Amino acid sequence: MATEAYVSRADRLRQLPLIEKGTDMGAFMRGFWHPIARSHRVEKGKSYGVTFFGEEFNLYRGESGQPYLTVGRCPHRGTVLHTGWVEGEAIRCIYHGWKYDQDGKCVERPAEPEEAPPEDICIKTYPARDYSGLIFAYMGDDEAPEFDLPRKDALEEEDRIVHVTEEDWPCNWLQSVENSLDPAHVSFVHQKGRVGTFGATVTTDMPKLECYETDAGIRLVAIRGPDNIRATDWTFPNNNHILQPTMGPEDPWMNLLLWQVPVSDTVTKRLMIYSRPRISAEEDEKFLSYCKEKAEDYSSMALHRELFEEQKFPDDTFMQLLSAQDYLAQVGQGPIADRSNEYLATSDAGVVFLRRILWRELCAFRDGKPTKQWKRLDEAADLPMQGPMAAQA
Ligand code: FES
Ligand SMILES: [Fe+2]
Repeated sequence: MATEAYVSRADRLRQLPLIEKGTDMGAFMRGFWHPIARSHRVEKGKSYGVTFFGEEFNLYRGESGQPYLTVGRCPHRGTVLHTGWVEGEAIRCIYHGWKYDQDGKCVERPAEPEEAPPEDICIKTYPARDYSGLIFAYMGDDEAPEFDLPRKDALEEEDRIVHVTEEDWPCNWLQSVENSLDPAHVSFVHQKGRVGTFGATVTTDMPKLECYETDAGIRLVAIRGPDNIRATDWTFPNNNHILQPTMGPEDPWMNLLLWQVPVSDTVTKRLMIYSRPRISAEEDEKFLSYCKEKAEDYSSMALHRELFEEQKFPDDTFMQLLSAQDYLAQVGQGPIADRSNEYLATSDAGVVFLRRILWRELCAFRDGKPTKQWKRLDEAADLPMQGPMAAQA
C-alpha cells in the first residue's frame, strides 16, 4: 500500500487532481454530497444527461417534483437514458421502452412476452435532493452520509433572497479549489475594474495568512490591516463560503458559496449560491433582476477567445467581471496544471495547507484507515454576520 512516506512530492501533485474512473482520488471524492445542477433548470417531468467524475449520469425530476439521479445508460442495449421519457417518478428508455422505477428496478419491457421483468434488471440510482436552489447528489458506492456537511446556518435563516449561478470551466477542479485558499490573488486578479463596496475592499496590500483546520474544513484568515481582515470558511472537499460586500455601502453583505465539482479531469462545474437578507420588496426585486440579467446564462468559457486573446472583459463590472478574472487565472494554468516546476512562496501558505490535508485524507482512504468525519460548523463558529465586527471580515 502506498503511504505518504513513500510518495514523492511530484507524485503527490500528479495524483491529487485526478478523479476519473479507477483513481483513488475519484473514489474518495465521490464519498461526499456534491451539487450537480441548479434546481430551477431541472423541470418536472424532464430528464438531462450530466457528467461528473468522468462518468455519464441521467438526471431527471419526477412529476412529484423529486429529483433523481441514475447511471447514464440503459443496461439493455446501452443507449443514454436521458433521451427517454419521465413517467411519474420512473424513466422509460427511448430505444425499446424499458421502464425503470424510482429505485432503478425495471418494471416494464414492452417488447418481451413475459409479464414481469426479471428481478435482476435494474439501474443504479443515487440519492439526490434540492437544497437552497441547487440539486445535490451522492455519487459514492457506499450508503450516503446524512445530508449535513453542505448545509449552512446562513442559508437556512428566514427572509433571505437567493440567486444561483452555474458555469463549466475547462480546467481541473483542484486548481479552482486551490484558488479559494489563495487570498493573495484578490489583490491582483480582481484589481482592475472593481466597483462598489467590494471594489473598495480590494487593495494591493498583501495579506498575512492564518490557516486553521476546522470540523468542516479550513478557516482561512487574510489580514491586510487592523480594519481589513477577511475570513473564509472553506468546507471539505470543494466548497468555499465567504461573506462579501455587494454594491452599495448600506447593502447587507452576501453569503457566497462556491462549489467546484469535477465533471472530468479537465472540466469543472462551478455552482454558486448568492444569498443575502431581504431589504425591501423593491430592492430585492432590483437585485434579483440584475442577477437574472447578468448572471443567469453568463459563461466565461463562451468568452474564452476574447478574454485570452484580446483581454476584452465583460461589461458587467461585478458578477461577470469577477468570474472572467478568475477564469483567466485558473484556466490560464492549462487543463491540468503542470506542478513539476512550480515555485511556491509564502503567499501560498493556504494552498500548501490544503494539499497536506487532502493528501492525508487520501492516504487514509486508500490504506483503509479512518478518514476525518467532517461535519458542518455549529452556528457560533460560522462566519460572522454583517455588523461593526463583521464589517472587517
Ligand atoms: S436500450 Fe434501453 S430499452 Fe433497449
Ligand atoms: Fe477570485
